[in-house]
Amino acid sequence: MSGQKDFSTRLIAWQKNHGRHDLPWQNTHDPYAIWVSEIMLQQTQVTAVIGYYAKFMARFPDIASLASASQEEVLQHWSGLGYYSRARNLHNAAQTIMDEHAGAFPQDFEQIQMLSGIGRSTAAAIASFAFHQNQTILDGNVKRVLARHFLIEGWTSTPKIEKQLWKLAESLVPEQDMVAYTQGLMDLGATICTRSKPKCDICPFNDSCQAFATNRTKELPTPKPKKNIPQRQTTMLLILDGNEVMLEKRPSSGIWGGLWSLPEINMQDIASEVAFRKFGLEVEAEEPLASIQHVFTHFKLEILPQPLQVTNRPRQTNMPNTIWLSIDEAIGAALPTPVRNILLNLKG
Ligand code: ADE
Repeated sequence: MSGQKDFSTRLIAWQKNHGRHDLPWQNTHDPYAIWVSEIMLQQTQVTAVIGYYAKFMARFPDIASLASASQEEVLQHWSGLGYYSRARNLHNAAQTIMDEHAGAFPQDFEQIQMLSGIGRSTAAAIASFAFHQNQTILDGNVKRVLARHFLIEGWTSTPKIEKQLWKLAESLVPEQDMVAYTQGLMDLGATICTRSKPKCDICPFNDSCQAFATNRTKELPTPKPKKNIPQRQTTMLLILDGNEVMLEKRPSSGIWGGLWSLPEINMQDIASEVAFRKFGLEVEAEEPLASIQHVFTHFKLEILPQPLQVTNRPRQTNMPNTIWLSIDEAIGAALPTPVRNILLNLKG
């Protein structure tokens, strides 16, 4: 095995020559700009993030502007990125920074981690990029790189393996060049040491990687044990009046909290009856659309979209928590991803 000092020295040199240097959140030390990027990049690819990032930063250029915005507007700027709890936490943390840190992003590593939505690895990314602190990141990409290079077996999110990986990651942190080092870990995982078909032939570590040496890159990291998660079903009402669709706001807590969605009914209910009883709308049911499968961490949800054409919409339909929008406007609202897909399919 190559020495651990060697690992960081080689990674830094590789990042400087072959890593990514022009991403919109690089070449800044503004902790806010870095923080927003790190949150958007959780579970989301760089290519998907870039456009949203520019628009978000144009509307909310600093902590104060984000903190003083309404949650509604923040969620709307997140529309399409999914995992909206990230946006709610970002907004909440911006308000905490205004209230408890006089509007300045905290530099203390413990205090960074106390902010909503910032875990240990994200805190380390911010601390190293913005403040050059010697903190280590350990996200899914980094776990994969380390599990392969140092031949660490076992699913990387079990407490025992995770502890071992944190220890190892900490032992590799260099004294200097934290920006290139941290970015190098990310770049190596994203561009070379990819989950499938890693580019070992051009990897700077192909002379020291133990998985490569033993032909085990395919097996490592050990995949997550498969669990059977329950399958649920729901019917969503796609209530249409000409070009407009009716959306209903979800309760602020629970799944899709605070998002605009389609009203849901129990399987035994009759769609047109619910539309009348709950919303005072006379409707005609059409053929159900193709169902959509959505996977959450703890269950799978099959959504059956039931289109209903409005035949009589009384003037007084300004119910609390409902809104009528054109299909295009609705697609731009803060919607759950599968609901957005139902509306996108409708446009054809
Ligand atoms: N993924 C998470 N953080 C990232 C960053 N700063 N650059 C590229 N990809 C990332």
